[in-house]
Amino acid sequence: MAKCKNFEILKLFVLFGALFFFMLSARAASSAQGVLQKRGQAIAQENCGRCHAIGVEGASKNPKSPPFRYLGRKYPLENLEEALGEGIVVGHEGEEMPEFRLNTAQIEALLAYLASIQKK
Ligand code: HEC
Repeated sequence: MAKCKNFEILKLFVLFGALFFFMLSARAASSAQGVLQKRGQAIAQENCGRCHAIGVEGASKNPKSPPFRYLGRKYPLENLEEALGEGIVVGHEGEEMPEFRLNTAQIEALLAYLASIQKK
């Protein structure tokens, strides 16, 4: 009987241990996501902000540039990944457009940021 009780306690320990671990890793993941989004926001601000509205509200400085929060309405954001990697010219025809070459890490950050501000 005593043995049986110990086993119950052990089970509780394992359960709480697992729960604790789960909570910790979830928190770590969400703060890593936050860091990524912050970095993406800075990239957007620096490279795109003088034409596009990059925030959750506000108008674009260059009225022809779609606000970033609506990009997801036209196509899945993942489609941008390739375009950005190749140096984006997509959708910029006829505009004097600096060529953007973002590296993989910058693209990942920018996409994480874009995903976080999309409005339906
Ligand atoms: C010099 C001003 C300018 C800068 C800087 C700029 N854009 Fe643009 N962007 C535009 C304009 C204008 C359009 C719309 C052109 C069109 O519709 O033909 C556009 C369109 C786009 C589109 C296509 C939207 C659609 O509806 O298909 C994407 C994606 C985009 N820009 C991403 C970016 C990103 C990412 C950056 C920064 C790395 C950036 N742009 C920087 C002016 C700019």
